[in-house]
Amino acid sequence: MENVEKILILDFGSQYTQLIARKVREVGVFAEIHPFNIEKAKLEEINPKGIILSGGPSSVYSEGAPHPLFNVFELGIPVLGICYGLQLIAFTQNGQVDAAAKREYGKAIVNVVEDNPLLKGISNNAQMWMSHGDSLSKMPDGFETIANTENAPICAIANIEKKIYGVQFHPEVHHSLEGKKVLENFVRTICGCVDVWNAESFIDIAIQEIRDKVGMEKVICGLSGGVDSTVAAVLIHKAIGDQLHCIHIDSGLMRMNESSEIYDLFQKHFDMSIEVINGHETFYSGLAGVSDPELKRKAIGKAFIDLFDGATQGVDSAKWLAQGTLYPDVIESVSVKGPSATIKSHHNVGGLPEKMNLKLLEPFRELFKDEVREVGCMLGIPDWFVKRHPFPGPGLGIRILGEISEDKIEILQRADAIYLEEITKAGLYDEIWQAFAVLLPVKSVGVMGDERTYEFTCAVRAVTSTDGMTAEWYPMPYDVLEKISSRIINEIKGINRVVYDITSKPPGTIEWE
Ligand code: XMP
Repeated sequence: MENVEKILILDFGSQYTQLIARKVREVGVFAEIHPFNIEKAKLEEINPKGIILSGGPSSVYSEGAPHPLFNVFELGIPVLGICYGLQLIAFTQNGQVDAAAKREYGKAIVNVVEDNPLLKGISNNAQMWMSHGDSLSKMPDGFETIANTENAPICAIANIEKKIYGVQFHPEVHHSLEGKKVLENFVRTICGCVDVWNAESFIDIAIQEIRDKVGMEKVICGLSGGVDSTVAAVLIHKAIGDQLHCIHIDSGLMRMNESSEIYDLFQKHFDMSIEVINGHETFYSGLAGVSDPELKRKAIGKAFIDLFDGATQGVDSAKWLAQGTLYPDVIESVSVKGPSATIKSHHNVGGLPEKMNLKLLEPFRELFKDEVREVGCMLGIPDWFVKRHPFPGPGLGIRILGEISEDKIEILQRADAIYLEEITKAGLYDEIWQAFAVLLPVKSVGVMGDERTYEFTCAVRAVTSTDGMTAEWYPMPYDVLEKISSRIINEIKGINRVVYDITSKPPGTIEWE
């Protein structure tokens, strides 16, 4: 994002760094994350209105602890250090950090002891979240204590004149009840940010950027039916109209009626042309006889690339490939922890842009998932579509365990549709991150009426999560489970047993394959 007021967050390895960016954006100011060892020239190019130093697992004195490459406190830019960031302030300004007499993890009651712009409006005895082993034992030069807790006499510090602040607690986490106000005070009052950054302003800026980048060239966009590619396509279409060519490949592994819903949304709702390619044959023949999950993924990826590549041959002078890449993927590849995205590396159909020699257009490289959803709503994409649960690229191919057949696909599509319908009717859909049915290659005996049955087992799964990296199994009410089970067994020939998956991630994964 150019020409936008920015807060720069330097990442020292905290698990909460992304949350800082999200919370700052929630107060309407754009924030971006860079590694702690950012070059000075890069920082100057970003030209931030303020800098936030994240927390981190290290101790400032330990060997190999992350330190910025230059003195960030001498730039004349306001700084807020959080936890490890606070300790860095002390370390560089002649203070002292020691292992705390009492470590603090969890809720702590913070008392404001000195009037100051950072904690203005925060109630006395505010509940904040702590997670630290080290703490300040000597004040850095030129600073004063502005808040304490029972166990940390120096819990927040300030050099009001130089606009440098440090807090031991984590204002970015949910359990810091007044944390958002602290961040708001920092970015608005101390850094003086006045712009309002939100979905609406993002759309205006992004449309201009897309036009400037693309000029008169054509853009190809693969529509998977997922939220990210859908919102990207609608946004890009708003920017460049018919220079955008959308292709949807119906793999035959989609949820029930999904391909026609996608077609209707684009063609009828948005009056955008979309080329739908029926790829059932290619996918099914590529999957014939394959039962290993990774080989299935490879077969599906190959069929997808072959069909997509073939379809784009007909699009003259296309120079760009639009993708719905999100900010967490971008950050993960540059974060202090190094590329921590290995768990998800198998999720993307690799090799597509290289093979097709196209430039990448990624309008959401700087957005979080919920921001993309907001942009989608603003662009008029219906709520039910924008709030859809994530769906894996290989689709039902990895939800039919073992070998796939057309019969099994139909059975699973119907079971999945009943499952989602019942969850929606019970008003639970939006509480759940992802819910789906899985068809197991296990047959068991049952009785229906006077008849003995010997049919497949269907597992139903529902999880809550914020990013899919970790997840909790969802405590589905018994009456809803009962309805789901009885409808699936009664209405679908081929399934005579339903089980509910109560595995969290870790140790499980969300998908079964
Ligand atoms: P797992 O099963 O790894 O899933 O816990 C985490 C999230 O990623 C989705 N997922 C995939 N998405 N291609 C994708 O595009 C894949 O091969 C794939 N495998 C899992 C999964 O649905 C969940 O949202």
